[in-house]
Amino acid sequence: MTHILVTGGAGFIGSAVTAALLAANHDVSVLDSAHPAAHHEPPEVPDGVALLHRADLRDRAAVQGALRGVDAVVHQAALVGLGAGPRDLPEYVGCNDLGTAVLLAAMAEAGVRRLVLASSMVVYGEGAYRCERHGPVRPAPRDPAGLAAGRFEPPCPACGAALSPALVDEDSPMDPRSVYAATKVAQEHLCALWARECGAAVAALRYHNVYGPGMPRDTPYSGVAAIFRSSLEQGRAPQVYEDGAQLRDFVHVTDVAAANLAALTVGDGFHPYNIASGRPTTVGEMAAALADAFGGPSPEVTGRFRLGDVRHVLASPERAAAELGFRAAVPPATGLREFACAPLRG
Ligand code: UD1
Repeated sequence: MTHILVTGGAGFIGSAVTAALLAANHDVSVLDSAHPAAHHEPPEVPDGVALLHRADLRDRAAVQGALRGVDAVVHQAALVGLGAGPRDLPEYVGCNDLGTAVLLAAMAEAGVRRLVLASSMVVYGEGAYRCERHGPVRPAPRDPAGLAAGRFEPPCPACGAALSPALVDEDSPMDPRSVYAATKVAQEHLCALWARECGAAVAALRYHNVYGPGMPRDTPYSGVAAIFRSSLEQGRAPQVYEDGAQLRDFVHVTDVAAANLAALTVGDGFHPYNIASGRPTTVGEMAAALADAFGGPSPEVTGRFRLGDVRHVLASPERAAAELGFRAAVPPATGLREFACAPLRG
């Protein structure tokens, strides 16, 4: 049995990870700051958890204390969402990057050499695309005039032709488009150099769009699945932006938890993995599946858009399958139906 510290273990994903680790007979401690962006009420200590350290990752003494007797760390604590803008910079960088730096320094000092990092597909920015004539291409930033005229698909930067979305693999370039995304890229870089300097093992799990029971309700920082779910609960039609054909990979939180468990086995060095269902779904299909299972109202496709959004992001789940033996067990069609009526957190 190993003793694992889960940072952010009281949150939506962290509590699912904690439950999966306990079910696999690990000893689990949790470090969680109960940040007001994620918790309206003080979190409860999950059943079976040995110790709950209610502290911020930037509190060096608390982190040192929490690492006592620990064999590995699963680092889920972070401010999530896109970041509303520049005023969010200090708190995002503080929680996500300074917090990670304090954790890594304390792990080095305590001789803890194994880390699973919750990263995100937002490190890629726009997904991958292919032009029939020019092969793999990277589209230019989205053009507000084109979007306003309903041209949502990015054109080929060389010939202007329509592109086909392709699978993003872990070697795709990083192109963060939000404050949050920039903090996730920085976390990965910090963890990679820490792994090299300490001869340690890091798995960085690039979560795609995670959903499932216990997801926080609609906030300015929520992902689209929680927003639609909250609208339905309030009797309002989900508002689908663009034309609803934008593709994402919705992955169930229990699969994300299983991926964390599998990632504890990686060898030394820094290993990034897409964590996805492998079954891309359009935002329109997702809205329709939730509305249908909830019993209405039907989604409205609005044609509105957010300039900061990317059009398509589809994951290749192959590296995680080959190296971690991880494949998602919950197909979006099943998971979304269940999520439509599952409880959210307040
Ligand atoms: C989301 C998360 C991101 C996380 C990533 C991977 C947010 C805001 N974004 O990114 O932090 O790392 O998943 O798990 O938490 N949309 C609508 N109607 C709405 C809201 C959104 O149609 O009311 C559309 C958007 O235009 C976009 C898609 O849904 O095309 C996804 O939006 P969202 O979940 O906010 O952002 P992601 O980029 O997928």
